[in-house]
Amino acid sequence: MAPGSTLELVRQRLAAARNIMVLTGAGISADSGVPTFRGADGFWRQYRAEDLATPDAFARDPKLVWEWYNWRRELLAMKQPNAAHLGIVELERRSPTFWLITQNVDGLHRDAGSRNLSEIHGNIWKVRCTGCHAVDENRDVPISILPSCLQCGSLLRPHIVWFGESLLAEDLQQCSTVLRSCDLLLVIGTSGVVYPAAGFASVAKDAGAFVAEINLDPTPQSSLVDVSLQGRAKDLVPLLLDPT
Ligand code: OAD
Ligand code: ZN
Repeated sequence: MAPGSTLELVRQRLAAARNIMVLTGAGISADSGVPTFRGADGFWRQYRAEDLATPDAFARDPKLVWEWYNWRRELLAMKQPNAAHLGIVELERRSPTFWLITQNVDGLHRDAGSRNLSEIHGNIWKVRCTGCHAVDENRDVPISILPSCLQCGSLLRPHIVWFGESLLAEDLQQCSTVLRSCDLLLVIGTSGVVYPAAGFASVAKDAGAFVAEINLDPTPQSSLVDVSLQGRAKDLVPLLLDPT
């Protein structure tokens, strides 16, 4: 199919779908100027995200990990949601059963106005106590290093699901429910290599959903989905919503 006709096909499916679901990754925020994890700009000093976003890295050197998060907080504090984030809010407005699953911790979906969402990897603007496990919002930029819990004095960590850690059981349950009941899934801006989210497209497909992907480049999911649209999320999402 020519690029124009695949776009039209997704547009029609979207207009006809009753239970719409969206899965997003770092690519949707790339258009807001947030570096992705696996792109050439995904490095901080000489470190890769995979070497810092782990419980081991935090146990070994919490100061280094917090410095990295402070760098990311500083960067994110200046970023705004883009047309793709706003388009997803519009989809939620149109459909009461709409659900968004994001792997992003930047909070930009919430800033845009999305409410029916699971932030399955956590949120960079929240901290969790390593002692009493209390979760709090904290928007300090920079956060004081090393931050400690006001209740019990233990070290605070970012409220983020790191490599080697499990997703919250309630999030997994919610994802499973919506993936099995949606009739259309849009997968936007994810490299599709980090599980369990990397398996979500095939779960929805096996359950009978029409699955479309939006990405700058082909991904490991491209051969599995019904339609793979190549381009920027901020350009393609508004085109899918446009009635003309
Ligand atoms: P990645 O950095 O792995 O992938 C970003 C994807 O977005 C790539 O496939 C790009 O081709 C695509 N992309 C880049 N710019 C785009 C644009 N403007 N429009 C559309 N697509 C674009 O990010 P994720 O797949 O989200 O975990 O990574 C998954 C997880 O690994 C993250 O949630 C993070 C990371 O370690 C945690 O933070 C716990
Ligand atoms: Zn505490």
